[in-house]
Amino acid sequence: MTTNAAEGRAPAPQSVTAPLTRAAIFLVVLINPGADNVEAVRALCGDLSALLRAVAFRDIEANLSCVMGLGAQAWDRLGGPPQPAGLHSFREIRAGSRHAVATPGDILFHIRAARMDLCFELATQIMARLGNAVCAVDEVHGFRYFDDRDIIGFVDGTENPVGADATEATIIGAEDPAFAGGSYVIVQKYLHDLPGWNALATEDQERIIGRTKLADIELDDTVKPTSAHNALTTIIENGTQIQILRDNMPFGTVSQGEFGTYFIGYARSPDPIEQMLVNMFAGRPPGNYDRLLDFSRAVTGTLFFVPSLPALESLADGGPATGDAVTGVAAKGTVPGEARGEAPGEAGPGETATSSPEASLPSPPESPAHDGSLRIGSLRGGPQHE
Ligand code: HEM
Repeated sequence: MTTNAAEGRAPAPQSVTAPLTRAAIFLVVLINPGADNVEAVRALCGDLSALLRAVAFRDIEANLSCVMGLGAQAWDRLGGPPQPAGLHSFREIRAGSRHAVATPGDILFHIRAARMDLCFELATQIMARLGNAVCAVDEVHGFRYFDDRDIIGFVDGTENPVGADATEATIIGAEDPAFAGGSYVIVQKYLHDLPGWNALATEDQERIIGRTKLADIELDDTVKPTSAHNALTTIIENGTQIQILRDNMPFGTVSQGEFGTYFIGYARSPDPIEQMLVNMFAGRPPGNYDRLLDFSRAVTGTLFFVPSLPALESLADGGPATGDAVTGVAAKGTVPGEARGEAPGEAGPGETATSSPEASLPSPPESPAHDGSLRIGSLRGGPQHE
């Protein structure tokens, strides 16, 4: 699976660290039951780079990119054992009236470009290729809003790591050698009570976010509450800040009063993002929660593994033995993480950290591996549109 690693080179990652773009589509689908449907997904794993190349070439300067992530159950059906060390179903968090829901998702397509038409075309080509093999559970079209602001008016993304720091934060290395070059991504779709938020004084909003609104300057620690969003999402371990890479996008439907932020966070392990979520929803210390959540409600929550480019392509070449895959799915279908002997979560008192029932849809047995790739192109040879 990690040919390059065997040759002493790290496998090329997908376009995880692609720069922020003006447009994005976040598409989450479920793989329908049946071996034929798994084969159709396998074929796409082999052909995605060719599709991307074809659409991207129509305007090469628009930097079209696509990251394909796989949920824990999809990995069992496609990749099988071994499993990436951090892959499990998203861990729901309940604390007071706050709820980080876990929602189903087998595949995430995170499509970015300077132009929405390119994103739209690639999503169309992907879905045409997958046909009835999948059903979509969520599709969000995000847009860049003024000076990289989210829909609540604050500049979003300022403290993202860049360059080598972004790679260091997001791409798996020697800690899980079989999956080096991979990454993890958590997505959550938030809906805002925008009238309620806009009724706050700007200074109150700034204390909730932890930065000034117009100039985007971090508040001084003497005035910044410990519950500020940027305080609770700062994780220091052994004197070093643990970074993640975010590419949040505003979205909405004005006539329906729907105003949202699509949160997307990449990291080389799900741990820091999960810790940030516990801090936000339960509080650090418990009860000292993120007041942004008084105005923002998470309506989805899913964790995906992003294989390296060669690992993604190798999924087209074959899968696990049927028996192993089914055992893994059944075990995780009961309590996520249980099969791996994981702790049930890091939630504080008064909340649970379990997955919702719909996040635990059992996957049917699949046929043994066979080569479903159309062999149109090689991901290894594909251009990096970053
Ligand atoms: C309603 C959803 C969210 C909104 C509107 C939002 C907005 C913001 C804004 C405006 C900032 C300050 C500017 C910046 O550094 O980017 C920020 C920072 C940050 N957010 Fe969020 N965010 C949301 C959800 C999340 C979630 C769910 C996480 C992690 C689980 C997260 C992690 C972070 C991190 C790590 C920072 C940087 C902290 C620092 O180093 O200063 N955010 N967010």
